Amino acid sequence: MECANQELEYPQKLLNYMNGFLISKTMFAACELGVFDVLQEGAVPLSSSAVAERLGTSADGMERLLSACVGLQLLEVREHHGEAVYNNTDLSRLYLTKTSPKTLHHSITYYSQTIYHCFSYVTDAIREGKSQHLRAFGVSSDEIFEAIYRSEEEMLRFMQLMNSTWNICGKDVVTAFDLSTFTNIFDLGGCSGAVAKECISAYPHSRVTIYDLPKVLEMARKHFVPQDEKRILFHEGDFFKDPIPEADLYILARIVHDWSQDKCVELLTKVHKACKPGGGVLLIEALLNEDRRGPLTAQLYSLNMLVQTEGKERMASEYANLLELAGFTDVQVQRTGKIYDAILGRK
Ligand SMILES: C[S@@+](CC[C@H](N)C(=O)[O-])C[C@H]1O[C@@H](n2cnc3c(N)ncnc32)[C@H](O)[C@@H]1O
Repeated sequence: MECANQELEYPQKLLNYMNGFLISKTMFAACELGVFDVLQEGAVPLSSSAVAERLGTSADGMERLLSACVGLQLLEVREHHGEAVYNNTDLSRLYLTKTSPKTLHHSITYYSQTIYHCFSYVTDAIREGKSQHLRAFGVSSDEIFEAIYRSEEEMLRFMQLMNSTWNICGKDVVTAFDLSTFTNIFDLGGCSGAVAKECISAYPHSRVTIYDLPKVLEMARKHFVPQDEKRILFHEGDFFKDPIPEADLYILARIVHDWSQDKCVELLTKVHKACKPGGGVLLIEALLNEDRRGPLTAQLYSLNMLVQTEGKERMASEYANLLELAGFTDVQVQRTGKIYDAILGRK
């Protein structure tokens, strides 16, 4: 009660929300300029003028940026011979430097350059109930992936974003259920192959075929999947128009959330027909709570889906319903405690 009264006295929460984008953009700027990388390369903590000189920025701008990063607990500061010197926190070193195996650098670049831009049109998206590719990028196609892949460069950036999520959540989603009985796995819309890699690493007897559009697989072969990886195969196709080959298990990671209810049922029914009897389908999605109270990340992602796609985030019961409409049974849900959860259906 006292808490509620305090909030009404001084709306700290709202002030924090107003500052939300300033915080994001500050972290994005530090990443894009390479602040964390320069501080990691230096054997000793650096002054803001040294960082500015190495990155070719204004000294004043860099000093303010580093100061804000200290406030955000992304950098540490101390005095050395009367001068402030900065170094990375463990968190920044692990997730914000470009060369760390757990780097979020690609996610951050995409957020900064694409999602931030798209989100300027969230009010229009809500008003009109549709994606905003025309306003945001001048792309008029109704095909969402024609808009998202509006240039080769954009396609690569999108694939890097997809890839980067699985650095932090990949193992959790492929081990949420024991998938060891499934050997011939198809990853529909498998993109960069990050989930496929997690799968073959968790299940030594599995073989995963990435099914995706031809131009996406060309990029995957070129940039993401090592040529000598014999347990990852490729199958070019459009999962709405072309046949889906038989397999023991189909993984659809962040696929169903892209599409309308009708398209989801169409696709999952096709998957059910192709699936080996006794086989299954694994959906990997950011689940909304049944009581509609969270998680905030999934609620915000659902708005992002509105701005950029024809889909939305859903509750576990809604995914179960889609799977059952398509013919799958025995639907089970496993929460991972991270962004993405797993839903398994059986044929
Ligand atoms: C949101 S991404 C998810 C990528 C990946 N599953 C992941 O979670 O990292 C959607 C994927 O579906 C693919 N895709 C979209 N439409 C498709 C279609 N009609 N046929 C095959 N793949 C498609 C896209 O190229 C992209 O790789």
